[in-house]
Amino acid sequence: MADTQPTEATDEWWRGAAIYQVYVRSFADGDADGTGDLAGVRSRLPYLAALGVDALWFSPWYPSPLADGGYDVADYRAIDPAFGTLAEAEKLIAEARGAGIRTIIDIVPNHVSDRHVWFQAALAAGPGSVERELFHFRPGRGENGELPPNGWRSQFGGPAWTRLPDGDWYLHLFAPEQPDLNWDHPSVRKEHEDVLRFWFDRGVAGVRIDSAAMVAKDPLLPDFEEGRDPHPYIDRDELHEIYRSWRTIADSYDGVLIGEVWLPDAERFVRYLRPDELHTAFNFDFLACPWDAARLRASIDLTLAVHAPVGAPATWVLANHDVTRTATRYGRADTGFDFKTKAHGIPTDLVVGTRRARAAALLTLALPGSVYLYQGEELGLPEVEDIPADRLQDPMYFRSGGTDPGRDGCRVPLPWSGDAPPYGFGGERLWLPQPDGWARYTAEAEQADPESMLTLYRTALDLRRAEPGLGEGPMSWLDSAGEVLAFRRDGDFACVVNLSETPVDLPGHRQVLLASGPLGEDGRLPRDTAVWLRLGE
Ligand code: GLC
Repeated sequence: MADTQPTEATDEWWRGAAIYQVYVRSFADGDADGTGDLAGVRSRLPYLAALGVDALWFSPWYPSPLADGGYDVADYRAIDPAFGTLAEAEKLIAEARGAGIRTIIDIVPNHVSDRHVWFQAALAAGPGSVERELFHFRPGRGENGELPPNGWRSQFGGPAWTRLPDGDWYLHLFAPEQPDLNWDHPSVRKEHEDVLRFWFDRGVAGVRIDSAAMVAKDPLLPDFEEGRDPHPYIDRDELHEIYRSWRTIADSYDGVLIGEVWLPDAERFVRYLRPDELHTAFNFDFLACPWDAARLRASIDLTLAVHAPVGAPATWVLANHDVTRTATRYGRADTGFDFKTKAHGIPTDLVVGTRRARAAALLTLALPGSVYLYQGEELGLPEVEDIPADRLQDPMYFRSGGTDPGRDGCRVPLPWSGDAPPYGFGGERLWLPQPDGWARYTAEAEQADPESMLTLYRTALDLRRAEPGLGEGPMSWLDSAGEVLAFRRDGDFACVVNLSETPVDLPGHRQVLLASGPLGEDGRLPRDTAVWLRLGE
């Protein structure tokens, strides 16, 4: 095994880190078969180092039948052969670390793939077997067991139960190919603890926990009733004990736990961030905000207020592999959106959306805490809305009968160079087709353009590292007009974002460090523009 443990004393780097999400299938293709892979990531480490990120979070890279883009894991201790080998992952972890970049992996504790050995054994062993106890198998209701055990719905649409030919039903909160594990079973707990150690032993610095608030179930599996508390499978108290035991393991490696916790109630959300539980969790409240000063300011205030008592840093997220690309989202007249239901065909002004995405980048990178950047956001990629139906892959599309376009539009392979598909990605027929017209978004084109999104992100990440007031630390609001967000960080750093319709005056400053777009000739800040300032005379 490669010597991948950091040698220097580990500080709490994660408190102010900039973390880049890699969706391996779509990042870069080293063997030119149309699917991204670890060789592709390795070849692009110089790009990531130049971008200035502190860590990479890899969406699941394990063997998977890809019923849900890799979130259906067949083996937690291996790498999907389409991506490479375990030895290559170890090399990648070590090389990245050598370039100053830590590695975070994705763990999916709620479910496994139906091809996982445990589920295969459960299928073979039949009703009433001990093998089935690792999952939620039940007889059906109705005279002949023809009705599902309860009325729970899958997150992807349709019932959360599937019946086997032998009569038993099994629970899957996501696709039928993703059977839910029974977390009341000691073997399930032990297995996950071993898997954590397995990856920490290979030098990973942290773990992102998928669907972290849905893992525990009421053992009676009661029907869901609106308003019933506690919920039968969301945010159950048993979870905290599970994550406390994970924290003990993580602490013994200086590892970091990051929760995917979608909860509307911020007070409930931060309970997962108590000092002996997870280190951080994604801030979906902020991600869900439309381009609206009052909403964003309220979300920032709430975020900071609820994090303070538990001592956990806030996180800021604009996009990930599940939601609409930022430039598209902010370019829509109604920028409010529902996470779970994507929509295509809404009139979108990409000029406006891109301008706002640039301003939002400076906003998030200036806020206190850590920040997550989803691959392609640094290129300003829009959502791809016209993938031919016969090329779509996401179960959300299929299980909604096509009414939900699914999440493929934000998962299209990255454009690296050239002026036609595959834009230097590698391969001819890519697993998802790229659109025409992406020549302007390639890393190569943007690298050479001082006005590009890539240049903006690089400059901002560079400044963010150099500015002592950025990352974690205090912030205070400056006086500003209604639709302007203006705040100061420690020292004389300030960020001002104009979300109003008209240009606004800037506070007194010595220097403009960076602007998301040109300032007016009168020095005023135009609409949808953000600026970083050095305050003073
Ligand atoms: C998380 C992932 C999403 C996946 C789901 C089921 O929400 O981000 O992509 O489909 O969990 O694992």
